[in-house]
Amino acid sequence: MSRTWNTDTINKVGQEVVVKGWIHARRDMGKIIFIDLRDRTGLLQVVFAPKEVGGAYEFAKTLRSEYVVEVHGKVQKRTEKTVNPKIPTGTVEVLAADLKILAEAKTPPFELDKDTRAVNEETRLKYRYLDLRSERMHKNIVLRDRVIKFMRDWLHGEDFIEVETPILTKGTPEGAREYIVPARLHPGKFYVLPQSPQQFKQLLMVAGVERYFQIARCFRDEDQRGDRQPEFTQLDLEMSFVEQEDVLDLVEKLFMGLVEHLNEHGYGPYKITKVPFPRISYDEAMKKYKSDRPDIRKNKNDPQELGFCFVVDFPMFEYSETDGHLVPSHHLFTAPKDADEHLLDNAPEKAKSKQHDFVLNGFEIAGGSIRIHKPDIQRKIFKILELEEKEAEDRFGHMLTAFTYGVPPHGGIAPGLDRIVMILAGEPNIREVMAFPKTGDARDPMMNAPSELPEKGLKEVHIKVIK
Ligand code: AMO
Repeated sequence: MSRTWNTDTINKVGQEVVVKGWIHARRDMGKIIFIDLRDRTGLLQVVFAPKEVGGAYEFAKTLRSEYVVEVHGKVQKRTEKTVNPKIPTGTVEVLAADLKILAEAKTPPFELDKDTRAVNEETRLKYRYLDLRSERMHKNIVLRDRVIKFMRDWLHGEDFIEVETPILTKGTPEGAREYIVPARLHPGKFYVLPQSPQQFKQLLMVAGVERYFQIARCFRDEDQRGDRQPEFTQLDLEMSFVEQEDVLDLVEKLFMGLVEHLNEHGYGPYKITKVPFPRISYDEAMKKYKSDRPDIRKNKNDPQELGFCFVVDFPMFEYSETDGHLVPSHHLFTAPKDADEHLLDNAPEKAKSKQHDFVLNGFEIAGGSIRIHKPDIQRKIFKILELEEKEAEDRFGHMLTAFTYGVPPHGGIAPGLDRIVMILAGEPNIREVMAFPKTGDARDPMMNAPSELPEKGLKEVHIKVIK
């Protein structure tokens, strides 16, 4: 007999079924044993009664939490008094006729039938595969999948294509420190893990792709915070022949569609503070909200209110906190506003850019811009940033060369998926919506990463460790 998912038993009253899963809880009532059986769809009550079956009842006494079992039995309606409205299968139960233990289980290091948020984080991450069994974590991982699937489908519907870009590459400047990978075949040389696919997506515009997206893994070696991880995921996208408003309009439609889709499928229900999403200038945001991440919600205590807005008209540059030099507010491929192009020559600090940030409930959930596609403007930016001509050529020469072969005007944006799912799930940090995140000091206690390597392995990649 083929297996029945727990939640499908409600359509099979009176029928024989096979159900499989984990023992979530066992209640021994003397004459009768109740089991809450858990599978990916939810909980189901299974009843073992001595008069119904000989062996199974005695056998059921040996069951412990988290054992993996297979139960054969008959689905029956529960009496009105025993209906459990808290679970989707609360109107039925399975009367067990046969029981098979597929795997025994040690007592887990923390309780899985309770919210695990209060459990020590190191323990949760060490046993992440157990943490993910808990109801809230399972829901978060499913929600993340639903969000990503919706975005993929929606963008395909808008004629975007998904293109994978390299992970082993050269640095692309997003302002953070980079992770480096030694190149075995090239002693003394290193690959860099991408902080984002920024340069590749621009080169895909030169390649004539016109509408690109990617669910892209990004790597940044920066200090951790609740909304930052060393590796995270962006919905990275880029479009050719567009103005800033085209990008914002597309993002607005995508997120309106996402919210509608989630509401239709039993999430939320979320409500959006203001449609169309307000476009707020940087100056106005700083004046009115004292932040470039304005939280425009009417009721900040309502977990289902979503206050989306865009912030535009950022200054091109800001002064670096470390050495007082000018650094790009976004990144060095961001175009100046047309009317401010002339300021690049004598007052670059006054120039405004075509950067756009997308903000939700006070979190920056996406950044993007219209890009520079004129090599002479790009060169001016390198000069303002005091990049030596040789260094600029070494690092970005390929971009300048590519732009001499017919580059369409282009722009894009990259929503951070972890932050978006965090807010939709009402979670306080992005670790709660990532299957296998790192600790605050960038470790994975389960895999024990990072770890030391044997001398031989290091030698092969021409590395000597200085402690
Ligand atoms: P930016 O650097 O603004 O832009 O990043 C875009 C979005 O990525 C998310 N994000 C992060 N999420 C989790 N952990 C991190 N460490 C982290 N860093 C960034 C945020 C942020 O808004 N290439 C450009 C995009 C473009 O110009 O199109 C870029 O990466 O949600």
